[in-house]
Amino acid sequence: MEGRPGRILISHDEITARVTELGEAIRHDYAGRAPVLVGVLKGAVIFAADLIRTIRLPVSLDFMSVSSYGSGTRSSGVVRLSADLSTSIEGRDVIIVEDIIDTGRTISYLRRNLATRHPRSLALCVLLDKVARREVDVAVDYIGFVIPDEFVVGYGLDHDGLHRNLRHIAVFEHGRAP
Ligand code: IMP
Ligand code: MG
Repeated sequence: MEGRPGRILISHDEITARVTELGEAIRHDYAGRAPVLVGVLKGAVIFAADLIRTIRLPVSLDFMSVSSYGSGTRSSGVVRLSADLSTSIEGRDVIIVEDIIDTGRTISYLRRNLATRHPRSLALCVLLDKVARREVDVAVDYIGFVIPDEFVVGYGLDHDGLHRNLRHIAVFEHGRAP
């Protein structure tokens, strides 16, 4: 489907300020520990890269890749693990870092998957939360922004693989590009 990034929903400055707050909250909550951040590819890569630099603790970083979307803007409801962690998380304090929660299916699958590996603790940090679209209950520990039910792109989030490189978060406008 054609379209393009339109109205700015969250500016780069607002993102930076909020990410810093999240990093400080994590530092406070995990004082004396060395958490491992698990970024969910590909959408969370920009967020994870910024977030890790705001956490003044010994943190490590790993990634997993899951996909629940085809090329459109509606969830298929099917979650597939396409790349796994490179290290064990047994006994570790794990923080899943995700770009956005929509229906909640992706994150609830990930939570269940990681929980079977016996981490010491398992928390969830998400940049954007579309609460109105939730179909599966998930407990989120750190939320950047609650957003309305609109498809957004930028700051890691894509439509059909594009627009991840925008510095801000924009509402995706469907229709033919001019
Ligand atoms: P859920 O499984 O329905 O919660 O979908 C979560 C996944 O769908 C996210 O990890 C994103 O990859 C994708 N997604 C959901 N909403 C949006 C959006 O507005 N823009 C871009 N990707 C989205
Ligand atoms: Mg994603």
